[in-house]
Amino acid sequence: MPSNVSPAVGGGAGTRAGTATSTDVPAEAVAPLMRGISVLRRLTDADGVASLSGLERATGLARSTVDRITATLARMGYVRLDGRDAVLAPRLMELGNAYLAALRLPRLLDSHADALADELDESVSLAVGDLDGVRFIHQATRRRAMSLSFRIGDLLPAERTAPGPLFATEWDERDWSRWRTRRAGDPEDRRFPAVPARSRPLDDGSGDDGSGDDAGRSTGDGDGDGDFERRTAEARETGWALDDQLIEQGLVALSVPVRDPRSGRIACVVSVVSHTSRHTAGDLRDSVLPRLRTAVAAMEEELRAELNGGLNAELNEGLNAELDESSRGSRPAGPAPRTGLALWTGASKQELGREFIESLARGLTVFTAFGEGRPELTLTQVAQATGLARATARRALITLEHLGYVATHDRVFRLTPRVLGLGFPPLSRLSLAQIADPHLTTLSQRLQDSASLAVLAGDDVQYTARAATRGIMSINVTVGTRLPAYATSLGRVILADRPDHPLPALPRLTPRTLTDQDQLKAVLERVRQDGYALVDGELEEGLRSIAAPVRDRDGRVVAAVNVAMHSSRRTPERCVTEVLPELRRATQDIETDLHVAGRFSRVPYV
Ligand code: PHB
Repeated sequence: MPSNVSPAVGGGAGTRAGTATSTDVPAEAVAPLMRGISVLRRLTDADGVASLSGLERATGLARSTVDRITATLARMGYVRLDGRDAVLAPRLMELGNAYLAALRLPRLLDSHADALADELDESVSLAVGDLDGVRFIHQATRRRAMSLSFRIGDLLPAERTAPGPLFATEWDERDWSRWRTRRAGDPEDRRFPAVPARSRPLDDGSGDDGSGDDAGRSTGDGDGDGDFERRTAEARETGWALDDQLIEQGLVALSVPVRDPRSGRIACVVSVVSHTSRHTAGDLRDSVLPRLRTAVAAMEEELRAELNGGLNAELNEGLNAELDESSRGSRPAGPAPRTGLALWTGASKQELGREFIESLARGLTVFTAFGEGRPELTLTQVAQATGLARATARRALITLEHLGYVATHDRVFRLTPRVLGLGFPPLSRLSLAQIADPHLTTLSQRLQDSASLAVLAGDDVQYTARAATRGIMSINVTVGTRLPAYATSLGRVILADRPDHPLPALPRLTPRTLTDQDQLKAVLERVRQDGYALVDGELEEGLRSIAAPVRDRDGRVVAAVNVAMHSSRRTPERCVTEVLPELRRATQDIETDLHVAGRFSRVPYV
């Protein structure tokens, strides 16, 4: 990450960076909050993992400061400490979720974007303007051999994108001047880790890029200043814009803005993204523009309907959703529900002492005051929602505004798209297996037995993650292994949630295998009621296992976790009394992470 964007905080103990612009920093800014955020940004730009010594170097903070910050973030559930590394944890996505929920656009428009992607069989994204950049708030990605796809939260330089010129039609002189200053100071786009560095201008002026018209790039410096201004003028005329390989050779995109029904201003931009192996920029426009415009009209209609219909209902719903969110799941390491915040930070301080930085923890909870139905809050409302003292909330807001995460006008505060830069890009790509991994490791270490995650694949369960113990006798399954669902605890837990799933023939695998369909149905009903399955020697003699379900945000069982062992290790009774509570703790932790991660991005289950 470029040091000139990272908030290198001057003045405090442990700051060594020479780039601190202490003159700009408001006197009331909370230095530990600034430092904590610079660590989160660094971790985000490093794709979610960095060594503690790497963080020390990149942020210019003293090692003891990095240690205290990461210990505090770990306590909040925002990072995990893994040996010498700090790793971003899914819980951190609650900050970006607060922004996306407050914005409302993903909830209203994501399904439209997904349907368009399915229909066109091309990637479709939604983006908002973020100062002189473009930031993605949704991605409906087609997986292709040749594709570079961006993630929710990725920031692109406006002039190298299709949405950029559309947003720039609304820029004022200050915005243009900010853009020129950035271009001059960062000619290679080093401040944008999501894009390949700008090398030579892509367009050599030969004009043989296949767009075959004047809509794409002009001659000369294809993404130079003049060119962007010209593209912006064209976008103002036509209402659409193209990216003809400005980010990378082969990548083409066509964008149309979605306008806010109230203000008429651009709420977000929809892009259809393709590759020159399928479409030149010119034919992308010719073939897709009409359909894209229809989709945008439907999206604008959705915004209008919401505006007319749902204002009051939405407010109540929003508040309830907020309360649900904070009380959902177990939060052993995470922030307590807002009203208990003072207690939670106090207890954390007691437990961790000097290692816990209360002002950082409190400052970060300010983000979570915002959300669905709560896009704009006064200082008083922020203090109420977080349980922070007014003075504390005020200093945190001043700090976050200084760093660009909060914008204010007329004494109300709102979150900015930059909040997505705190963890979203790497975390929004995690699969369920990756989310589960650290929890399986903890479970396996606690019990000294192997723990696995599996999903249903036809009539089988397929292992997708596993933490194995090293014993003389170990159970021979690896990620990817498939076993017949009916004869495994994993499979029964999932089948119990799918009463309509047709049961296959049930061959006898051991003398104990349950082979009667009606008996199996009764067992599955029991499993559904108990919330776990115990299978004893039905798959293989001497193999005993117990499994519990993993549910998505809607309560559907999407996977199962088991602990498996040789039957000599524990009696079935001890499996229930000793293993099950640990197993449930693990599935709850996985669910908490999955529900945060799955709120605005689709978590792949395999
Ligand atoms: C994308 O959604 O990946 C995308 C959108 C617009 C661009 C480039 C990429 O100009």
